Amino acid sequence: MVTILGIESSCDDTSAAVIRDGVILSNVISSQAVHERYGGVVPELASRAHQQNIIPVVHDALKQAGIRKEEISAVAFTRGPGLLGSLLVGTSFAKGFSSALNIPMIEVNHLQAHVLAHFIKEDEDDTDQPGFPFLCLLVSGGNSQIILVKSHHEMEIIGQTIDDAAGEAFDKCAKVMGLGYPGGPVVDRLAKEGNPGRFTFSKPHIAGYDYSFSGLKTSFLYFLRDELKSDPDFIGKNKEDLCASLQKTIIDILMDKLYRAAKDLKIKEVAVAGGVSANSGLRNAFEAYSNRYGWKIHIPKFAYTTDNAAMVAISGYYRYLDGQFCGKDVAPYARVSI
Ligand code: KG4
Repeated sequence: MVTILGIESSCDDTSAAVIRDGVILSNVISSQAVHERYGGVVPELASRAHQQNIIPVVHDALKQAGIRKEEISAVAFTRGPGLLGSLLVGTSFAKGFSSALNIPMIEVNHLQAHVLAHFIKEDEDDTDQPGFPFLCLLVSGGNSQIILVKSHHEMEIIGQTIDDAAGEAFDKCAKVMGLGYPGGPVVDRLAKEGNPGRFTFSKPHIAGYDYSFSGLKTSFLYFLRDELKSDPDFIGKNKEDLCASLQKTIIDILMDKLYRAAKDLKIKEVAVAGGVSANSGLRNAFEAYSNRYGWKIHIPKFAYTTDNAAMVAISGYYRYLDGQFCGKDVAPYARVSI
């Protein structure tokens, strides 16, 4: 029996989870409300909040899992990418925990963890997992990538954004409309009431499977600036249609490249991961492509879309089986590829 404690602290969510033989036993997430008034994550405040949260969160995760700490085989933690001060809290905690219990430490790449979230079993009979190779669209506040997943440990980025991420496009355009931060979920909610064909915004023309979202952001901004000149209440009157049209444009951009990659590589198993995978329009688009092109799709549970330690624990589990441990001298890294 292999029992992994996972720790996630890369940005503004402190999370701990327990996974036993691939099956989830607990996943506790403490989000930090302190950033809301600043319109974005403040790194120094994030690391201080992690320090306050980490021990209670681990305590709750063990309690909910119904296990004693002595039953843990190894502690897996997010080494990067992320905010250095935030990562340092999780990494330091993992070092202390592994020393106190004399158990191994396992470093986890945050981006790989998002992909591997698809392997978390809800119970022992859960067999709904992707088969290799598959494509994973990883879309979050910091990333928009198409990843060719060859095994639990081998992943290759075949396309990625050359500027803003999809989540940033949602958040920045939402900010222009005065919808608060993070705006992605608000756009999603308002889009349900709007007409996605009402407005059109520019789409990028770049080669290969790469993405670009900065042009869309500018086109959205200039469009609103012009409309507001003749009608100062243009946003208020058209919020739903603006959100629906913006969301449709972002989804069209994402799905177009993903479709091309799947077609060229002749892969029919396709997954989505990261914060933006919570978007209902994107989920519907996956269903539609599945029906139209015979894709076998994998859409994560909502709890595994944003940052969480369950995905870190499952990544740690596969590394444990492969004997991939790290030394106590390990340091977090802010930037690293998948
Ligand atoms: O993976 P994630 O939690 O962490 C970061 O990379 O920061 O992703 C957060 C991003 C934010 O940009 C947020 O606006 C976006 O995911 N997001 C959404 C939705 N839920 C979260 N975007 C669109 N629709 C949603 N329902």
